[in-house]
Parts: sequence; C-alpha cells; structure tokens
Amino acid sequence: MAVPLLDFQRQHAPLRNGLDAAYDRVISSGQFIFGPEVEAFEREIAEYLEVPHAVSLSSGTDALLVAMMALGIGPGDEVLCPAFTFFGTAGAVVRLGATPVWVDVLPDTFNLDLADAARKAGPATKAVIPVHLFGQPCDMDCLAALAKEHSIHVIEDAAQAVGARYGGRRVGSFGAFGAFSFYPTKNLGAFGDAGLLVTTDDGLAERAKHLRNHGMHPKYHHDVVGGNFRMDALQAALLRVKMPHLDAYHAARRAHAAFYNAALSGVEGLSLPMVHGGMESVWNQYTLRVGGGRRDALRAFLGAAGIGSEIYYPVPLHEQPCFAGTGRGGESVSVSSELARGVISIPVFPELTDRERAEVVGAVRRFFEEA
Ligand SMILES: Cc1ncc(COP(=O)(O)O)c(C=O)c1O
Repeated sequence: MAVPLLDFQRQHAPLRNGLDAAYDRVISSGQFIFGPEVEAFEREIAEYLEVPHAVSLSSGTDALLVAMMALGIGPGDEVLCPAFTFFGTAGAVVRLGATPVWVDVLPDTFNLDLADAARKAGPATKAVIPVHLFGQPCDMDCLAALAKEHSIHVIEDAAQAVGARYGGRRVGSFGAFGAFSFYPTKNLGAFGDAGLLVTTDDGLAERAKHLRNHGMHPKYHHDVVGGNFRMDALQAALLRVKMPHLDAYHAARRAHAAFYNAALSGVEGLSLPMVHGGMESVWNQYTLRVGGGRRDALRAFLGAAGIGSEIYYPVPLHEQPCFAGTGRGGESVSVSSELARGVISIPVFPELTDRERAEVVGAVRRFFEEA
C-alpha cells in the first residue's frame, strides 16, 4: 500500500464549505489587502498563541527579515544561527549584510546546542535565532540566560512550531520576536505563502507593522525603507477556517509520533527523535536518524515500497555554496554535518490512517531486518 508523505486533499475536503465561503466573502468584499479578514486573523492567532501582538506577513522568511530589520541588525553585526535548519533562517541574516555565526545542534533534538552558542557569542553578536525544528521547542530557559549574559536579542524561528509549548507556554513569545510560517506543509498551512511575527513589545509590534507596508505613514510618506511584506486577505480568510482545527491536527500528529516511538524502538541502526521534559512538540516532522551511512538506501527502499519520505535537510547551511565565505570561518558544526547525512522524515500528517502508519513501520523494520 502506498503512503504519501503529505495529503492536503484529506485535510481540505471536510473544510470545503467553509473554505468556499471564506473565498466568496473576500471576492465579494473587494478588500484584498488588509481589512477585516486580516484583522480578525491577527486577533484570533494572537489569542491562540497567547501573545498581545500578532503581525501578519507574506511568509516566514519575510517574518525573519522584518524581525531583524526592526531590531536594526545589519553590517558588522553577528547573529548566532544553527547550521542545521531550513535555508530561510540564515538567508535573512545575510540579506541584511550581517554575519551568521554557525552554531551546532544537539543530535537527539536537532535543536540549538546552547553550550556551543555560548562559546561562539562575541562582542559583535547582536542576536541568536533558536529554531524550534520539526515542531519541537528549544530550551528557552537556557537560551534566556545566554541572551541576558551577552545582551543579545532572541528571535525565535517558530516556522515549524505553531502551538508548541515550552514549560506550558506557547513558543514565539519568549524572544523579542517569534516568526511563524504558514507554508502549505506547516501544521497550519495556507493556500500559498503566508507568515507571522508575534511579540510582547508594543514598540516592536508597531515597527514590524510599519516595515511590512513600505515604512509608510501617512499614505505615501516614508520615513524608513520597508517593503511589501503583507499577508493577502484571501490567505487570512482561508487560514481562519483551518485555525479552529489546529489543536486536533497537533493531537493526531502526536498520536502518530507516539505510535512510531513505540513501534520503532529497539531497531538497531535507527535513532528516534527525542522530546525533552517540559516540551510539547507539534511534530511538524517525525525525523529518524539512520546510522552506518544507510540513510539513502532506506529512502530508496521506502520509495520502492511507495512510501513517501523527505530529507530535511541534506546540506547544512555552512556548506551551502551561497554561504561560502560567510560566517566567522572555521566554526566547528560537526553534528550538523552528520545529521545532514543521516536524517530522514517519514509521514506524520494528521490524516494518516492506522493502516498507513503500520505500513510505514513494517517497511522500515523490513529494511533493517533484510540488511
Ligand atoms: C525553520 C524554517 N524557517 C523559515 C522558514 C521560512 O518560511 P516560509 O517558507 O514561509 O518563507 C521555514 C519554512 O519553510 C522553516 O521551516
């Protein structure tokens, strides 16, 4: 039986009437930029994320960019950045002329190694970007201590972790800013690109709102150079239809992860993802580590069995050609390089059936038994 990595249709089919109505509402209103749908979305997501300010934006990438622009990060500044994450985390740093300093990650949680971050923080360091990778929160207490000691900003890359909790509190509100993505594969997926910044700081919220609309106020008067980083009203309206179901989606992902944790434990050559105490992952991905250089063989085996998988991420950021010559040079990030060679993500989307996930487990086990 084939098992897809993702299946948007299964999620959207039961919501179809609500989605059609939202679409109709926006088309009939003629209000495609800002307006009531965007305002309502911002109110509802702020409530969900338990923050005072939510600023809707065009993408998660732009959310990181606007956060750094609002904090005045630019040439001469260093930003501590994990080497094992999606490109967008560091792309924003380089686009602003700042220097990403590559920090390693922990092998079991895939998240920032804070001891390494502490070693690499220096006088030019202006910010640190913890990425709550695959939906799992970073250790925000240790991070807060590091940020305080070095007087640096924390910008949470929560692109994959909408709704995840650390110590009972939703991620995104620990730093100066929390950046979210609603790229279709995320737990709250839009019908195109969309993103968000959250903050508890009134001034930073105002600055982000100003920057997302060309730094314009009043109309056609510009005191800073911003950009067009606005979320479409259509995306806001459609996201509002999905948002009430988000916690149920998380619960389904959590149940799949628990099933995999039980069914795949003890397989020699395979390491399962760890969730440390006090953390609540939303399992945007369920990511295995395969030892012995056999990851690609497992992927080919699953592919031949019709089972979807993906490699998040095959190349660590310090090895990306476009980042050659960036960084301080010579930062050691060996765990990131190792993970890029060993990780594989398997289907964990909410609508995955019991039969499908059993099929995935059967195929993974067969691969290791036949070896
Ligand atoms: C960790 C991480 N950071 C940033 C982004 C960028 O988000 P977007 O694709 O919405 O620009 C993504 C998502 O793709 C991501 O997974």
